[in-house]
Amino acid sequence: MKDKDDLRKKIIEVFNRRYATKKFDPNRKISEEDWSTIMESARLSPSSFGYEPWKFLLIQNQKIKEDLKKIAWGAVNSLNGASHFIICLARNDVTADSNYVKYMVENVFKVPYQAHSKQTDFFRNFQENDYDLKDKKSLFDWACRQTYIALGNMLTTAAWLDIDSCPIEGYNRQKVTQYLTEHNLMDPNHFGVSYMAGFGYRLQNITPKKRQPLEKIYQVIK
Ligand SMILES: Cc1cc2nc3c(=O)[nH]c(=O)nc-3n(C[C@H](O)[C@H](O)[C@H](O)COP(=O)(O)O)c2cc1C
Repeated sequence: MKDKDDLRKKIIEVFNRRYATKKFDPNRKISEEDWSTIMESARLSPSSFGYEPWKFLLIQNQKIKEDLKKIAWGAVNSLNGASHFIICLARNDVTADSNYVKYMVENVFKVPYQAHSKQTDFFRNFQENDYDLKDKKSLFDWACRQTYIALGNMLTTAAWLDIDSCPIEGYNRQKVTQYLTEHNLMDPNHFGVSYMAGFGYRLQNITPKKRQPLEKIYQVIK
């Protein structure tokens, strides 16, 4: 199984190749084809019950980038040099009775929505009894966790395409929320800010990964 060995080696190479890039080359741009592939890896990501509780804003406006630098310290490097800069929003309104779930069921799953169908009741029970998702903050946190799956997929897809990236939580969430809301880029009744990320080409060398050995983080229970 030489091919499989090569593939395994390549996968680990790609994971070692991905690193949180601190300095991007502002002169290099990601091709449309590559960017579409990265976004497709986000779009195809799994989500709880398939409800896709996310939205990705690609920020190309220079004024907005300058404004964000003042409230997103961890994003300054990406805002200065990354070819593509995104803000990921997570929904806070995904409930069994919401218009959003109704829209997903009817328009994406293409089945009639009923407030008390077996599926809707099952979802309601999961949220309210199994997972204690009863308020906007819990719903938002639950959606945020799902958006990070898309983030992982985007970072890995980029690495496969020799594109560098940086995931970003270094920002003041309240201020960024206020900014996006005031600029009509986000409706806080439906969304909150989950994370940011920069994608582009590095202007620095990759350093070897610093990670704990597997036995420290992995336990087999027999
Ligand atoms: C959720 C999350 C948030 C992060 N926030 C920032 C950030 O705001 N700014 C930054 O430069 N790096 C940020 N990082 C990058 C981490 O510091 C980096 O992934 C970690 O040190 C491991 O290094 P590596 O990714 O190069 O292997 C973040 C990473 C994750 C996963």
